Amino acid sequence: TKFDYGMIGLGTMGCNLVYNMSDNGYTVIGFDKNRSQVETLKKEAGTEKISATSDLNEFLNTLKTPKVIIMLVPAGKIVDDVISELKPFLSKNDLLMDFGNSHFTDTNRRSEQLEESAIHFMGVGISGGELGARHGPSIMPGGPKKVYERVAEMLKAVSAKANNEPCVTWLGPGSAGHYVKMVHNGIEYGLMQLIAEAYHLLKECAAMSNDELHTVFSKWNEGELQSYLIEITADIFMQKDELTDSRIIDRILDSAKQKGTGAWTSEDAMNLQVPIPVIDIAVSMRDLSAYKNEREVAHQNMGGSEVKFTGDKNDLVKWVEQALYFSIITVYVQGMALLQVASKKYKYDLKLEDIAAIWRGGCIIRAALLEDIRSAFSKQPDLSNLILSVAFSKKLMQSQEGIRKVIQTGVGFGIPVPAMMGALAYFDSYRSGWLPANLIQAQRDDFGAHTYERNDREGIFHTHWNQKK
Ligand code: 6PG
Repeated sequence: TKFDYGMIGLGTMGCNLVYNMSDNGYTVIGFDKNRSQVETLKKEAGTEKISATSDLNEFLNTLKTPKVIIMLVPAGKIVDDVISELKPFLSKNDLLMDFGNSHFTDTNRRSEQLEESAIHFMGVGISGGELGARHGPSIMPGGPKKVYERVAEMLKAVSAKANNEPCVTWLGPGSAGHYVKMVHNGIEYGLMQLIAEAYHLLKECAAMSNDELHTVFSKWNEGELQSYLIEITADIFMQKDELTDSRIIDRILDSAKQKGTGAWTSEDAMNLQVPIPVIDIAVSMRDLSAYKNEREVAHQNMGGSEVKFTGDKNDLVKWVEQALYFSIITVYVQGMALLQVASKKYKYDLKLEDIAAIWRGGCIIRAALLEDIRSAFSKQPDLSNLILSVAFSKKLMQSQEGIRKVIQTGVGFGIPVPAMMGALAYFDSYRSGWLPANLIQAQRDDFGAHTYERNDREGIFHTHWNQKK
């Protein structure tokens, strides 16, 4: 008997997805050049629905035709290498799906190259980490719609469910799926930075212990902030270290790593001229954190924050909760605004309501707030910025007091809260009917005759700015 699906790449994510597919009744053969990974899967599968091999011929010959092959290998050159190796053995109507975090421009290039030989290609974003892959990830597929329909039933079966609705839907042609996954990750970076700032403030200002932080975050997770990242953060504070008699959080080096998807989001937002400052700041702060040695030297030279907090701890906790809610909203606002522009520019024709819906379960950025985002886009599918919706302008207006208090506190003691500051500045700028950009235009016209528009009549103007000389 032949297998329904092939899985290339038997790392933890690949294997967990194989198990998930087999639980849902599909037969899968895995392929990996690493024999020990193949042996492990074979040994642990315990069902005939799963097999594995290091022999590419065996892999290809035991697949049903037309073949459907999923790749779960690290993004970048390896994806191209796997495609080149497979391509001579693929025929018309075979389908290759890339489930990795590939850059959307690579996905476009690969789709075009494969379509020349009538081989179908789909770029599919998967979120939810190892557990998500095993028990239900959020799945963001892009590619030809007809081709998606061939795998829709399987993807729905293995995906996470939010209110019984599968967290997967066809998002758009070409690289739409990988683009949406990239923005998901940009949002993920923003949320993580904001949560880290809240932690910094409570730890330094209110001198909260890990136990107290656990209690605060757990409580927050029962309210408006309810989300996966807040939930795991609460638990992280309780995790014991295996090597010393302390909590692991206090033994982890404060130098953040990244694999690039956050920076890609910022890069493309710059290209499309969509402001997403909170995500930009989150990327910069990971970069800054990595200058650990320089930070220590600078600390010796200049000292750090000096906290003499005399206020009420409970008040501070309340303000930080509000500040987080406010700033977390702006991250989603900015991510969604980017998606709207990208959708037109790249002809994805994205439905933001659907994207919010499939992010409600399985993925890293899942949050109660996504239900409200979904409903805002369901009422106004073309909404260019969520702040313009009644529901979201109200949420921001109601929580702005907290973020102003928290930023004042941070600034007063020298505790950096850059993403929160970026969030508030974005909001204050966005709702400014007037910004000082007239001065920037005047300067441009003065030093470079770049011209300007006027606010009282149509046309392009230039002033001879030499009166002063
Ligand atoms: C997910 C995540 C995942 C990503 C990690 C690590 O949705 O499951 O986005 O795809 O690889 O979060 O990303 P960084 O190493 O860049 O932090």
